Amino acid sequence: MVSYKELGLVNTTEMFKKAIKGGYAIPAFNFNNMEQMQAIVAACAETKSPVILQVSSGARKYANQTLLRYMAQGAVEYAKELGWEQPQICLHLDHGDTFELCKSCVDMGFSSVMIDGSHHSYEDNIALTKQVVEYAHKYGVSVEGELGVLAGVEDDVAAEVSHYTHPAEVIDFVSRTGVDSLAISIGTSHGANKFTPAQCTRDENGTLVPPPLRFDILEEIEKKIPGFPIVLHGSSSVPQEYVKTINENGGKLKYTIGIPEDQLRRAAASAVCKINIDSDGRLAMTAAVRKFFNDSPDKFDPRQYLGPAREELKKLYTHKVEKVLGSAGKA
Ligand code: G3H
Ligand code: 13P
Ligand code: ZN
Repeated sequence: MVSYKELGLVNTTEMFKKAIKGGYAIPAFNFNNMEQMQAIVAACAETKSPVILQVSSGARKYANQTLLRYMAQGAVEYAKELGWEQPQICLHLDHGDTFELCKSCVDMGFSSVMIDGSHHSYEDNIALTKQVVEYAHKYGVSVEGELGVLAGVEDDVAAEVSHYTHPAEVIDFVSRTGVDSLAISIGTSHGANKFTPAQCTRDENGTLVPPPLRFDILEEIEKKIPGFPIVLHGSSSVPQEYVKTINENGGKLKYTIGIPEDQLRRAAASAVCKINIDSDGRLAMTAAVRKFFNDSPDKFDPRQYLGPAREELKKLYTHKVEKVLGSAGKA
């Protein structure tokens, strides 16, 4: 059993309290490898933004859970080396789907876990979430639950259609489970194809404009559980300049549409205090790597293509914390 405190990590309690009061959101960035982790830490150390490093079960399979945990410990030390005296870094399990997986992360030094019971019946979701909360709270580890289903497909996170969260259920869910935060469904979804063109309108330049998030549902939820930390998954904006670079350099991405940044800014100013972003990082890395290979077909040193990818990622994360979530300068 390793406590997250020994690793220099923090749970989400203080982060969320300050974020709700201050009208900003904590970035939750996924990582699977060293370059992503370095970019996240460098961007957040430079801007002094608290940050949640997220590990999905797909990431655990890809990179090995022990390595990822030591990387998070390394992240704290790296942040200090970059001049961040008291790094506010949380290590979080993204979309945990069983009690055993959540328990294993708590035992390995994670400071926060998500138990995603949103695909179960309401009562089974409550029972599973409560079981995780009872275990995690013994060790001071924060727990995120989910009510409502997000559409979209990732490696291990898939749903055909979304079901918005029912505001009528949130008081019961939060009080019976004891969760520390609640992920809700108000129109975001996972991946880089969040909307079909048919769901969008076009602006004067012919650009597809997605339907707005359901702020009415968010407001209803906030009225039911005032001041309770809300989480938004599926919050990549899918920057079209990355899509363009990818497609100009051999890629074939189609119908890529994300959540506009102004919608996320509005959400961050509310009780939404954690915003999950993964796909934008994938696009940034892929754009940089594809361009490098196209421009320099004679090069083969991984540092030569992963280096620019890491730089692009750092630029992206800096932009997110400074211009979208408002978390820069809050740590
Ligand atoms: O919400 C899911 C995250 O983007 C992680 O995706 O399961 O492909 O690692 P993944
Ligand atoms: P995106 O696919 O929109 O980046 O969402 C990531 C996410 O919700 C991770 O849990
Ligand atoms: Zn998610």
